[in-house]
Amino acid sequence: MITFENVTKKYVNDQVAVNAINLEINKGEFFVLIGPSGCGKTTLLKMINRLIHLTEGTIRINGKRISDYNIHELRWNIGYVLQQIALFPHMTIEENIAVVPELKKWSKQQIQQRVRELLDMVGLEPDKYSQRKPKELSGGEQQRVGVIRALAADPEIILMDEPFSALDPISRTKLQDDLLELQRAIQKTIVFVSHDMQEALKLGDRICVMKDGEIVQIGTPHELIQNPVNNFVREFIGVKEHGMNTFHIQAVIEPIASEGDQKNLEDTISTKDSLQTILQKLAHHECLGVEDNGKIIGIVTRASMLQYLAHDSIERGNVNG
Ligand SMILES: Nc1ncnc2c1ncn2[C@@H]1O[C@H](COP(=O)(O)OP(=O)(O)OP(=O)(O)O)[C@@H](O)[C@H]1O
Ligand SMILES: [Mg+2]
Repeated sequence: MITFENVTKKYVNDQVAVNAINLEINKGEFFVLIGPSGCGKTTLLKMINRLIHLTEGTIRINGKRISDYNIHELRWNIGYVLQQIALFPHMTIEENIAVVPELKKWSKQQIQQRVRELLDMVGLEPDKYSQRKPKELSGGEQQRVGVIRALAADPEIILMDEPFSALDPISRTKLQDDLLELQRAIQKTIVFVSHDMQEALKLGDRICVMKDGEIVQIGTPHELIQNPVNNFVREFIGVKEHGMNTFHIQAVIEPIASEGDQKNLEDTISTKDSLQTILQKLAHHECLGVEDNGKIIGIVTRASMLQYLAHDSIERGNVNG
């Protein structure tokens, strides 16, 4: 677990970048930091592995102050994906990925196997890519290497600063899916910075919305959508598209009450389905299962959908229109 107690960061000009933050990130949690440019996301992230020194307060990992850890022990056990791609230009892709495993004195064979496994995972053929230099890869390919490099030595905690921003929508979706699957399988603690609310809602167990160095709201995707604390959060979530608020399936998913319920489902939808598809199915069935990565994660009922749409319509001020 990572805890922030009254953590403040002032840069040299005395400008407060992060102001008296109190925060608990749970073990195994996918925690997303989101907020406008300059609100302090990168600063918050970099204080965790001591790339930036805090000015006031305490950060603890598993109860121990980060200042009490040996700096190498701390850094090697925290994977980090920088906001800018930062591969070592003179080293091959394989060497880049192997940096921390080598520091940790893994065997050559073990390292080679791990590099291949990771390259495969993000769709970069090991035979084709492992001996290339970073400049021989596209921006998006380099970014994928940056992500797997952070995973290489199997760290407990992974910090990711907008890791998918240079990717096209398809690669981005694929890598998001891979990361979610990975996190579900190995239960790492991931602190993930994003600009993109859709990405945050998809990935986050909880989302922390920041503004001007402070926390505005922390909650599950469902909580943020259902109960935004103020207009800032509401606007951040409800990006207007064609006068209609973007539909977030998280807003209408309900938990499954019992195993029996699951067997009674007549039809299912996917978390990726459009609002229109879901409405068409709800016209025929009172209740639908919601499938995500092959698993039923909840249900959507006709009643909850009507409630959601009515609410959305009132928000837009066109109840009659
Ligand atoms: N080294 C520095 N010296 C002085 N001020 C800094 C320094 N680094 C960041 N800042 C300031 O601290 C504030 C927070 O910066 P930070 O990089 O944490 O923002 P961010 O939320 O990550 O923004 P972005 O979304 O643009 O990456 C900004 O106002 C920035 O100008
Ligand atoms: Mg940043």
